[in-house]
Amino acid sequence: MTIEGDIDKSIAFFCTMMAADLQDLMIKLKARTTSVAIIGLGYVGLPLYRCASQYVEVMGYDIDESRIKMIKMTDHDAKVTSSVPDISKAFVYIVCVPTDITKDKLPDLTHLKESSQAISKWLNKGDVVIYESTVYPGCTEEECLPILETGSGLKPNVEFTIGYAPERIVPGVADLQLSNISRVVSAGTESGRQFVHDFYKLFINADVHIAPSIKVAEAAKIVENTQRDLNISLMNELAIIFDKLDIDTQEVLEAADTKWNFHKYHPGLVGGHCISVDPFYLLYKSRAVGHEPKVIAAGREINDYLPLFIAEKLESTLLKNNVAIKGARIIVFGLTFKENIDDMRNSKVVDLVKALQAKGANVTIKDSHVNEEIIHSLVGPYVASEDGVYDAAIVAVKHDDVVALGADYFYNLLTEDKVLFDLKRVIDSSDKERFQYWAL
Ligand SMILES: NC(=O)c1ccc[n+]([C@@H]2O[C@H](COP(=O)([O-])OP(=O)(O)OC[C@H]3O[C@@H](n4cnc5c(N)ncnc54)[C@H](O)[C@@H]3O)[C@@H](O)[C@H]2O)c1
Repeated sequence: MTIEGDIDKSIAFFCTMMAADLQDLMIKLKARTTSVAIIGLGYVGLPLYRCASQYVEVMGYDIDESRIKMIKMTDHDAKVTSSVPDISKAFVYIVCVPTDITKDKLPDLTHLKESSQAISKWLNKGDVVIYESTVYPGCTEEECLPILETGSGLKPNVEFTIGYAPERIVPGVADLQLSNISRVVSAGTESGRQFVHDFYKLFINADVHIAPSIKVAEAAKIVENTQRDLNISLMNELAIIFDKLDIDTQEVLEAADTKWNFHKYHPGLVGGHCISVDPFYLLYKSRAVGHEPKVIAAGREINDYLPLFIAEKLESTLLKNNVAIKGARIIVFGLTFKENIDDMRNSKVVDLVKALQAKGANVTIKDSHVNEEIIHSLVGPYVASEDGVYDAAIVAVKHDDVVALGADYFYNLLTEDKVLFDLKRVIDSSDKERFQYWAL
């Protein structure tokens, strides 16, 4: 027998041991005699904590003390902590930390690396670490796994299991929550993949799909969001073209949608933590392996250009009424990145407001979902004006309370030119004629 043969044999032995250990771990989890730690209790981690703790013992950990206090205010018995040693007894670690981009639009892996470092200190033989954060294909095994390995001194896929289970939750949409959304999972070994599958099956009623490798699962997640970004960018480019051709994009889409294989998407501002960020992870990885991406990059560029396009359109509309954008009074309804939530991350309405302010406009913002301090910190001070004095109104977010305002409300706010930019088409068709109406 060669030395390589001996090594193969001992790895096979450990793998068999590991499969048995993982089965044993699952039994203990179900019996609540061992626990899971969730790292990062934000939009993804907190619902996971709440859902999983109905079935297994869970300790939630977040680096942000104020977040822990806030969770405990609404749930006094919540097992949540901002002290790392409190998660040392866990056997399963689930990482739900942010994966943002830097100012240069490159992946910012700081939180992922720091949380991996923290876990590595407590990692024991037989433990499982599952990442839920959205990353580029290869990231978990190239960036996180070495940190776990070095920090713990344990062999990955032999002495501990590494898994990946990207989240698809949609904040603010009740029908699309954790337990009823299908999920893709994977891990570095076959027994690991089965374990991760069985673990999520404890609290997910929908399909849990096992991808053959972590890389495939990472790629699947990033592709889901990149596809959506691109589909919307095509609509946005069409909206720009049709605006110049004086054609209503919505009417075009309604007509085209009568074909059996037409995919209906709508133009709009693409913000938030996922769709407007994740494609940059794929762009980065594509460049790292020597391919300069064209389609994906163009989609991002168009979607990021849209706020400026709208600001310029409003400027030219006002000019036709002999109103200069400098000093114009503009009221914007909705500042969040989508309707009926308070999430401001990467909101393109903020970019639109800043573009208008850069042109000298006086912009007033109304958003009942966001407190005034946050609005001020994002777009600077503004003065609320009286009814009837706004040169233009922009309906930017389709919050229920904005839709409920109705055409008369917008009409009465506006000066005699009645310029209404209805980005989300909240006004009934019958009321459009009362305004100088523009929509995407
Ligand atoms: N929000 C969504 O709808 C959504 C959907 C699918 C996937 N994702 C992905 O899930 C991941 C998490 O996103 P999110 O929206 O929950 O982010 P978030 O900002 O809402 O929450 C992340 C939490 O992690 C905490 N944190 C940061 N560093 C930490 C560390 N080192 N240790 C412990 N806690 C730490 C932060 O304090 C914060 O409370 C991201 O990769 C995101 O792309 C998000």
